[in-house]
Amino acid sequence: MKAMTLPIDTERLLLRKYEDRDVKDIVEYSQAADFWLARNLDWEPTEESVMAYYESKRDIYPESYPDWLDLVIELKAGSKVIGNVGIGVKNVEHRQAQIGWLLGCRYQGRGIATEAVKALLTFGFGPLGLHRIFARTGSRNVRSWRLMERVGMKREAHLRQSHKVKGEWDDEFIYAVLAEEWRLMQ
Ligand SMILES: CC(C)(COP(=O)(O)OP(=O)(O)OC[C@H]1O[C@@H](n2cnc3c(N)ncnc32)[C@H](O)[C@@H]1OP(=O)(O)O)[C@@H](O)C(=O)NCCC(=O)NCCS
Repeated sequence: MKAMTLPIDTERLLLRKYEDRDVKDIVEYSQAADFWLARNLDWEPTEESVMAYYESKRDIYPESYPDWLDLVIELKAGSKVIGNVGIGVKNVEHRQAQIGWLLGCRYQGRGIATEAVKALLTFGFGPLGLHRIFARTGSRNVRSWRLMERVGMKREAHLRQSHKVKGEWDDEFIYAVLAEEWRLMQ
């Protein structure tokens, strides 16, 4: 693994580790969640719950590969935290990792998630030296799998009725991109 390069700095965004001062912004976008955002929050929209979540996820990276590294998405204009991306190395030997994301509803529709996820993939294939990066989503989460396609990930699997949501069967998609494909896309 090469030297770490956090925070990740893009045109409009900083992807960085959580700091205690971020809690108010995170609660704000969490309280204004729509159906899909609410369904994918790993915390309740309260300060206590947000603090407990990020405290439990403090990762020892860069001393080792991140088991799950959460990075808040800070919009440079206004220095506001508006979302989260995460990356977790699921198999160190084979350099396989999973990524995930969420973005406050007010900030969707502007290409912000695309910018953040592309930067995360560059980080994964660069400093982390990964070989394959994948993501999973329910098939009805259209914005999420369209984002996967927008950043160049390919649908590898359609798992039919693989899980139940509120008592109803749901399908799941797995998307992935390989290091070599990513390099060719740049
Ligand atoms: C998944 C999620 C992050 C996608 O957000 P998004 O706003 O659709 O994605 P982006 O920020 O990349 O914005 C893309 C949109 O902005 C538009 N756009 C504007 N400028 C753009 C640019 N410079 N680059 C790319 N797209 C741009 C695109 O056309 C697209 O618009 P459309 O939705 O009308 O097609 C968001 O819906 C979300 O947080 N969902 C809830 C959490 C979740 O489901 N997480 C995943 C669990 S598996």
